[in-house]
Amino acid sequence: REPVRVALLGCGTVGTEVLRLLRERPAEFAARTGAPVEVTGVAVRRPHKHPDVPEHLITTDAHALVEGDVDLVVELVGGIEPARSLLLAALRSGKSVVTANKALLAEYGSELFAAADESGVDIYFEASVAGAIPLLRPLRESLAGDRINRVMGIVNGTTNYILSAMDASGSTYSEALEEAGELGYAEADPTADVDGFDAAAKAAILASLAFHTRVTATDVHREGIAGVSAGDIAAAQGLDRSVKLLSICERVVDDDGTEAVSARVHPAMIPKSHPLAGVNGAFNAVFVEAESAGQLMFYGQGAGGSPTASAVLGDLVAVARNLVESGKGPRESAHAQLPVQSMGST
Ligand code: HSE
Repeated sequence: REPVRVALLGCGTVGTEVLRLLRERPAEFAARTGAPVEVTGVAVRRPHKHPDVPEHLITTDAHALVEGDVDLVVELVGGIEPARSLLLAALRSGKSVVTANKALLAEYGSELFAAADESGVDIYFEASVAGAIPLLRPLRESLAGDRINRVMGIVNGTTNYILSAMDASGSTYSEALEEAGELGYAEADPTADVDGFDAAAKAAILASLAFHTRVTATDVHREGIAGVSAGDIAAAQGLDRSVKLLSICERVVDDDGTEAVSARVHPAMIPKSHPLAGVNGAFNAVFVEAESAGQLMFYGQGAGGSPTASAVLGDLVAVARNLVESGKGPRESAHAQLPVQSMGST
């Protein structure tokens, strides 16, 4: 089989992990997609900051890379530009895209999806919300036949890390924020986390998928955690509550009886007995309430290099498989890698 050629844009915390796993486990990726997966280039701004990336892969010309001889583009640059132009160029030249870029999807999702439709290619973005937690595909696929009424939870690891550390160990806000940065949870500009922009972008993506409409980040009421003091945390403790930054997307009925979608992000005091109160550190948790399914809870690591790489690589395998097998979807692997222990008696 011809290899599936992958361009990687950005090689920070997540990109480094994606590249490492692709290079260390070629046989597994080949078996799962049906063809070898080959990274043909890694676009970065400052090559000297990436001594571990093989020299022949590194380039500073991201545009040439996406418009060159590649089948799919993995975008882990973040932010609006140059990511938007790069992804539009990739989609318009017939390449599918895997991205973790929640800010871009929340603001320019329509433009990107229209470009993908025009070229007949895919955009996969599981890593854009809640890191490793499989959440977007269940909303898009498994629950597509149900009617979702509410999606609510903790979708920003950095602020949850800060609030958990202030609650559990009495860390100061700035100590905890610094730690979250060192652990690779925070955005390049951590005000995106603490002021709620990151959670609002994720709420817009969740609401768009859950309610089959287009919600942008500016539609989301947003309040971050910069105003949460040690005194607020202590007051919550006195009431047997925890402070959490919640993202809430719901179907609401206006006074005149018409239905609408409401999305908001704000800190809230939650009883310690509530499952969300026990979600600590960079973990995320999201409740989905659907008419037929009832209540579902999704829980796992929501930030950091490895968990986010897991979601990116899952999308990469899905896109590569679509390319190799012409979109037949997941099926039992015909290329088993591991022997199965026989438990039966002889
Ligand atoms: N800065 C984000 C967070 C990274 O803390 O959740 C994952 O999207």
